[in-house]
Amino acid sequence: MPALVLLGAQWGDEGKGKATDLLGGSVDYVVRYQGGNNAGHTVVVGDQKYALHLLPSGILTPECTPVIGNGVVVDPSVLFSELNGLNERGVDTSKLLISGNAHIITPYNVTVDKVTERFLGKRKIGTTGRGIGPTYADKINRVGIRVQDLYDESILTQKVEAALDVKNQMLTKLYNRRAIAIEQVVEELLSYADRLKPYVADTVLLLNKALDEDKVVLFEGGQGTLLDIDHGTYPFVTSSNPTAGGACTGSGVGPTKISRVIGILKAYTTRVGSGPFPTELFDADGEALRRIGGERGVTTGRDRRCGWFDAVIARYATRVNGLTDFFLTKLDVLTGWEEIPVCVAYEIDGKRVEELPYSQTDFHHAKPIYENLPGWSEDITKAKTFADLPKNAQAYVKALEEMSGAPISAIGVGPGRTETIEINSFI
Ligand code: GDP
Ligand code: IMO
Ligand code: MG
Repeated sequence: MPALVLLGAQWGDEGKGKATDLLGGSVDYVVRYQGGNNAGHTVVVGDQKYALHLLPSGILTPECTPVIGNGVVVDPSVLFSELNGLNERGVDTSKLLISGNAHIITPYNVTVDKVTERFLGKRKIGTTGRGIGPTYADKINRVGIRVQDLYDESILTQKVEAALDVKNQMLTKLYNRRAIAIEQVVEELLSYADRLKPYVADTVLLLNKALDEDKVVLFEGGQGTLLDIDHGTYPFVTSSNPTAGGACTGSGVGPTKISRVIGILKAYTTRVGSGPFPTELFDADGEALRRIGGERGVTTGRDRRCGWFDAVIARYATRVNGLTDFFLTKLDVLTGWEEIPVCVAYEIDGKRVEELPYSQTDFHHAKPIYENLPGWSEDITKAKTFADLPKNAQAYVKALEEMSGAPISAIGVGPGRTETIEINSFI
């Protein structure tokens, strides 16, 4: 059985954690391939609620092996506190595997993330302040620290030295901050080595062998398509590739092994941080979506910006990810509206535009063209099949499917594992 990718089709927080957890029981491996603890995935199992940041959501399913791939950036202190939190609640985390090639979020990169944002002022990205951007920047600049470096003190010291060389100049001369001591950083990083050791593995070899043996591998994306460094709303993006291609580079599994790419799609739209968002609402409807949908960030506690569904974005996600399916989430949140506007195209400088413009300026000028779909008032949280949904809810789903370009194979009608309508099976 080949591999599946599950990723965010909008600006993150689509419900990837819930969808991954749902499939956890049917797969052998769940692999994070990019991002780090900028992610916040809420998973509800029975009466238990878990907030995961760095760990793959498969960690909650005892049968499957959670893997942190080479494309992920790892903050060891966050990793340990997340593991401790789960262990205290009786979750066995001993099967976790971490790529020795994954990069480490060092304390100085968290500092650099925060000072850079402060320095940008009004132009800030609104990052999660977790050191994600600077860590990926170090990776690309070839001054990153990898998990494997923790096991060679002399190499580690040289690498930290190289990384701090320019940064200390920048911190002291530009940002008016104190320089960071190399020894202190090395000491902190070495203090993580022993506890990390049992988890460190050649995950590339392991995952490819597993696929050769017909095991099922699920790649779980962090963030979302429009936050992708290449395909998102640059520069208001994260610093990695949440899109489907990222699953290959971030894990060492080739594209020929991937048979299914599932886009997680919220029945409306949200975004955290700065950047363009054509369907954003600043009125009572936006406030209602935020309240009913519980749209508050799990990582930073920031209110999420809310707006109506944007089919232009969904079509774009289908294209850049080669989506085979959608998992539509939070349909229940839309219960109670008499009419639900859906953005079908944009108006840009007086012209109707059907597809996402590649020009940043055009996207900033995009005004949504809405079609109003009839709403429903019946409670849908107990629906188990598509036929259980009120006619207007069915029509809403069908309309979204048609506009978005891939079949909607599952529908979320509540946060719990079982509050899902499965239309086509994923595995
Ligand atoms: P992720 O980052 O993509 O995993 O999404 P988040 O966990 O940040 O945000 C999604 C939120 O919606 C979480 O609180 C989930 O528990 C919740 N959720 C997921 N699917 C559904 C659904 O179908 N209905 C409702 N009401 N809540 C959902
Ligand atoms: P999940 O996995 C929503 C946003 C931040 C900011 C931008 C860059 O829960 O969907 P970063 O710290 O990554 O450099 O911030 O990306 N962002 C997210 N927004 N969900 C996420 O993750 C996000 N991770 C980062 O708000 O706008
Ligand atoms: Mg989230």
